[in-house]
Amino acid sequence: MSAETSDPNPTRGVMGSIDRLSYRLAQTVRTGWFAGHYALTARLSPPPRRDGSGDGGVILPSWQTVNDDLKALFDRDWTNIESGLYRPPHDMWPNPLAVLRQSARYFDDLGQVNDRKRDRRGQEVFTPEHRGRYPRYYLQNFHYQSDGYLSHDSATLYDYQVEVLFTGGADAMRRQLLAPLRDAFADRRIRDAHLLDVACGTGRFLSFVKDNYPRLRVTGMDLSAPYLVRARRTLRHWSRSHLAVGNAEALPAADGSIDIATCVFLFHEVPNAVRRRIAAEIARILKPNGMLLFMDSIQYGDRPDYDPLLDRFPQAMHEPYYADYVRDDLSGLFRDAGFAVEKVERVFFARMMVLRRL
Ligand SMILES: C[S@@+](CC[C@H](N)C(=O)[O-])C[C@H]1O[C@@H](n2cnc3c(N)ncnc32)[C@H](O)[C@@H]1O
Repeated sequence: MSAETSDPNPTRGVMGSIDRLSYRLAQTVRTGWFAGHYALTARLSPPPRRDGSGDGGVILPSWQTVNDDLKALFDRDWTNIESGLYRPPHDMWPNPLAVLRQSARYFDDLGQVNDRKRDRRGQEVFTPEHRGRYPRYYLQNFHYQSDGYLSHDSATLYDYQVEVLFTGGADAMRRQLLAPLRDAFADRRIRDAHLLDVACGTGRFLSFVKDNYPRLRVTGMDLSAPYLVRARRTLRHWSRSHLAVGNAEALPAADGSIDIATCVFLFHEVPNAVRRRIAAEIARILKPNGMLLFMDSIQYGDRPDYDPLLDRFPQAMHEPYYADYVRDDLSGLFRDAGFAVEKVERVFFARMMVLRRL
């Protein structure tokens, strides 16, 4: 059953209690697993380099604070599920063998990531082979990851690496966009609507969308062909799913042709001017009243006690545009592009924005 057809409260009653227990247990195992990876990664990795400005005396949030916040995210996720806004995660209990294989791959690759981190090598993919085929800003080893976004190995590792970074909370953050997505169907028919996920990566978010709205027509686009191969695999069970290689600065869609655009964790990885071009592109392809459901990293002030972590992040990971991103005026940027800002909310380390094309 899907959210399109199901009882709006499928998680009530005895089955509901079992579902709730199953969800809680799954998230506890998940958090323990990825927090273990996070701790081991920190032990094996070189200490983050400081940028010279000095951060002596800065108080970082405690592990307990972050853990409580992660728990709040899962509470919110479950409340949304229980109230029928969306289904429980389709892969709540992943195949343990597949997880072990991913873990082995992750640690196998970690030595190379750490070598890059130690030497601050973030430009390995700026090669003659790639130059001219991709924008310059894209040819970086973001997070010091092997091959940047440009190999099948990278596409295989990416989701796991992101879950380690967020100690198991990455998918739960993405799912929060399913709540405003449900609202977006209050005044449009699912069957007739077209959703475009800009920079869909390996298709994680789209898999949650399709699991809830199998009849919805969706297109995922991304600059990385290998990531789209992975996305094709992720979405193989669902029809009406299309994938297109392309640049978000020149979206492969006609003016006013899309009902709902989504964009998850892209903006912090592109330069200031590019953010503005992408926002203008999304505005161009959306129908009047079309929705943009946006998610990216939190910014300065979204949760003030996390601000020191926002300073640390681009030093520990290769994130050349992050320091600019966390200071950018996203509401102003979207207003200038022709959107009304309907909602801004923080969920764990993500900022969620609901925007309507004027
Ligand atoms: C941090 S990942 C986020 C992927 C996915 N949305 C998610 O939730 O995991 C950033 C993605 O943006 C893509 N990307 C970066 N710049 C792009 C551009 N100019 N046009 C299209 N995709 C781009 C990358 O290939 C990568 O898949």
